Amino acid sequence: MKNLVISTGAGISAESGITTFRDAGGLWENYKVMDVASDEGFARNPALIHRFYNERRKQLLEVEPNAAHRGLVALEQHFNVNVITQNVDDLHERAGSKNVLHLHGELMKVRSMRHDDRIYTLPSAELSDKGLETSVDTVDAHGDHVRPHIVFFGEAVPNFDAACRLASQADIFVVIGTTLVVYPAAALLQYAPKGAEVYYIDPNPAAVPPHVHVIAKKATEGVAELIQILTNK
Ligand code: APR
Repeated sequence: MKNLVISTGAGISAESGITTFRDAGGLWENYKVMDVASDEGFARNPALIHRFYNERRKQLLEVEPNAAHRGLVALEQHFNVNVITQNVDDLHERAGSKNVLHLHGELMKVRSMRHDDRIYTLPSAELSDKGLETSVDTVDAHGDHVRPHIVFFGEAVPNFDAACRLASQADIFVVIGTTLVVYPAAALLQYAPKGAEVYYIDPNPAAVPPHVHVIAKKATEGVAELIQILTNK
């Protein structure tokens, strides 16, 4: 089976009702990025950041995967599929994707501030707060405070090397729903091998090299078209 590597951004979750970041009305129009998604922001006002991610976690429980997420699962019948996502939602997993690599962390998880490898999926009986919300007072069984398991701006992207290895083995590389402005995620496209087929699904696509096959459509329509293209070869 050929290797199909799919790199997704906020756009794939837009039709599930999750606002993107940089579109009109996007998240970064209503919040200052550096206040709610940066390492200095967390140091300055951790309570605000706990509240921000509590809000986004609550919203996540009210939405479902959409046909684009499900289309990527259907492609697993024809290809060895790996999804690399900038998204912190769990919609790929809830749609049934088997191999999902998160570059920017996971909204449903928090981790110890003393031991990075102590990661808790909410709701967790191991935390002083048993529900989906955390605060500056939430501690784990070791008495250590926790933080969102999110890669803040200014922090390293630990899974990027693994993502590059996947991209470098792609026979087909697909980018869906991202402005391609945030690095290192945006650089993944360059790791696809020379001979790989490359597709980019986005209704308002960023400039990409001429070898990329752009499908300027929303994710649900674009993924349906991609399935046609890839399964009718
Ligand atoms: N289907 C597909 N793409 C869509 C749709 C849709 N229905 N609606 C919007 N888009 C596209 C937009 O055209 C845009 O290119 O989704 C993209 C959203 O871009 P951003 O809001 O910048 O999201 P993303 O590229 O994922 O941001 C990257 O920035 O703030 C950080 O960590 C955050 O992971 C995020 C990173």
